Amino acid sequence: MPAPHTPSIVSPLPVGPVKVNPAVAAFPKLAKLIAYLDGLTTRANLSTLDSLLREQRLSLEDFRPAIMFGLRGYKRNTISRSDHYELLALCWRSGHCTPIHDHQGVSCAFRVIHGQGTEIRFARSASGQVIPEQSRIMPPEFVCSADEPDIHQIVNAQAADHDLVTLHIYSPPIRHMNTYRPVEPRERLDVYGSDDESVVI
Ligand SMILES: [Fe+2]
Repeated sequence: MPAPHTPSIVSPLPVGPVKVNPAVAAFPKLAKLIAYLDGLTTRANLSTLDSLLREQRLSLEDFRPAIMFGLRGYKRNTISRSDHYELLALCWRSGHCTPIHDHQGVSCAFRVIHGQGTEIRFARSASGQVIPEQSRIMPPEFVCSADEPDIHQIVNAQAADHDLVTLHIYSPPIRHMNTYRPVEPRERLDVYGSDDESVVI
């Protein structure tokens, strides 16, 4: 006679505390975006970042805990980060601007939350310098994704007392970037002689 079936005993898997990113509680409208970013194990896909930034209606009120301005330049306020990304609210007073830069090694996308930004695109000239190629106004809800070789500068060119707030994602976090001067590879002092020829010192 066969032995009666004895149900096997399966030990339950140990359940640890669920890790919750505190940024989700502070910025609930960013929950889906943060969930995607926290799941990254490598560099983010730029088109995915672009799509996620377009999905949600966002206003300045959604970012109150991260709205802080700098005195001498735009301020980067970290919302969340890991080894694979950083999510930032950038706050710009009138006249604040980035250096001219590219995006080598980094996926970069941002959305205008408040105010109006200006993007100036540059092209490399045959001489190796960079020259302004085009500019565009970026109103609220505008999403900008920058490919690696893109060279640009972001400016708050609005009048005084008109602030700009943008939501930026960099993947991986920016540790350094290539920056450019529009016409010169370094600081120079122009000295004009009698023949009006400038001399670099
Ligand atoms: Fe950029």
